[in-house]
Amino acid sequence: MFFFLFPLIFPSVLALGNIKCPILFDGRVHKNVQPADFDKNSSIYDHQFVHGQNQTWAEIIKFPEGVPPSLFEISTNTKAVEVTINQNSIFVPGGDPPVPETGFRRSELIPALNNGTDITVQGTRTFHWSIRNDPTRPLNLSHEYHPVWHETADFSTSEITFLTGKPFNQSFDPTVHDPKTLRLAGRQSNSPETTFFQTPFLDDVWHNWAVTLGFETNLLTVYYSIGLEPLKLVAGPAFNNNSGGGQFHTGVFKLPTGPLGIDVLHQGFQESPINEGLIFGSIFIEDSNSGCVTLGN
Ligand SMILES: *[C@@H]1O[C@H](CO)[C@@H](O)[C@H](O)[C@H]1NC(C)=O
Ligand SMILES: *[C@@H]1O[C@H](CO)[C@@H](O)[C@H](O)[C@H]1NC(C)=O
Ligand SMILES: *[C@@H]1O[C@H](CO)[C@@H](O)[C@H](O)[C@H]1NC(C)=O
Ligand SMILES: *[C@@H]1O[C@H](CO)[C@@H](O)[C@H](O)[C@H]1NC(C)=O
Ligand SMILES: *[C@@H]1O[C@H](CO)[C@@H](O)[C@H](O)[C@H]1NC(C)=O
Ligand SMILES: *[C@@H]1O[C@H](CO)[C@@H](O)[C@H](O)[C@H]1NC(C)=O
Repeated sequence: MFFFLFPLIFPSVLALGNIKCPILFDGRVHKNVQPADFDKNSSIYDHQFVHGQNQTWAEIIKFPEGVPPSLFEISTNTKAVEVTINQNSIFVPGGDPPVPETGFRRSELIPALNNGTDITVQGTRTFHWSIRNDPTRPLNLSHEYHPVWHETADFSTSEITFLTGKPFNQSFDPTVHDPKTLRLAGRQSNSPETTFFQTPFLDDVWHNWAVTLGFETNLLTVYYSIGLEPLKLVAGPAFNNNSGGGQFHTGVFKLPTGPLGIDVLHQGFQESPINEGLIFGSIFIEDSNSGCVTLGN
């Protein structure tokens, strides 16, 4: 009996978690990797950007215990990675003089190869990530957060922004009623901002996302699933201005609260201390020029 069942089960186990399309960046973190490895130039993520001026990845990155593997890490030698922020997560960008971004708290991983004009921003690409909350480091959903976004190479706007929390500008998207929502918005400079898909941010479960961006076609497609369900088409293909190349950020980016019209980079309110984090898995970028998108089945 056992011998007859085994071949029937085995192929489906193998198929679950496989990436089917040509992979351009594999952001899944090997089981042996330690937080301090993210500070080394051998890291698969940029070892310098983006985190607080006086912080290191060794302090920021955590490997949470007891988190089950996400959709594309079922049969891999990789593990979930948590990105955290605290009251010192204040980034100081280049500039003369450099002005600290005291309005934000932020820690974000960027693929090391992703310099703004590389292969991940040519043709049609699908950006994958899975995300879940950490009950021991909850977000403060009175704030707006951007756990993921793709910023243009000139830093003027973002092709996509993935948000949670209470929108800083409540009238920006009146469709968001519950701050405990995950939503995928298009080009930030669009007015009003376009939400392509939103769903409740449920506790203690993986939320799996994939967004296909045609950098020349200006089309955007969104796929989503929960737990270990295969990804399903939830929005698009639809127009989105995808021009401008740039970089794929995953982590915790927290806006201040404060009155509309303030300079959110440098003003507004942030509580202290802060001990917040988000858990990520299955981060990768694949080549979808031929229409290929890995859905997990
Ligand atoms: C990477 O860091 C090592 C020392 O840790 C250094 O010898 C090497 O030159 C660095 N490589 C690059 C490309 O920066
Ligand atoms: C980093 O530390 C230096 C020296 O203590 C301090 O002057 C600076 O304000 C700190 N930067 C931030 C962003 O906290
Ligand atoms: C970015 O990387 C690509 C591919 O490695 C390279 O051709 C290009 O010159 C780099 N651009 C910058 C601005 O460093
Ligand atoms: C959450 O944020 C709000 C608005 O900034 C602040 O008033 C409140 O104290 C924060 N809560 C916690 C637990 O830090
Ligand atoms: C808030 O969003 C609305 C709707 O998009 C926009 O008209 C308004 O200018 C925004 N307010 C601020 C201060 O950004
Ligand atoms: C996309 O936005 C850029 C400015 O950022 C603009 O020059 C371009 O015309 C826009 N493209 C489309 C198709 O709307």
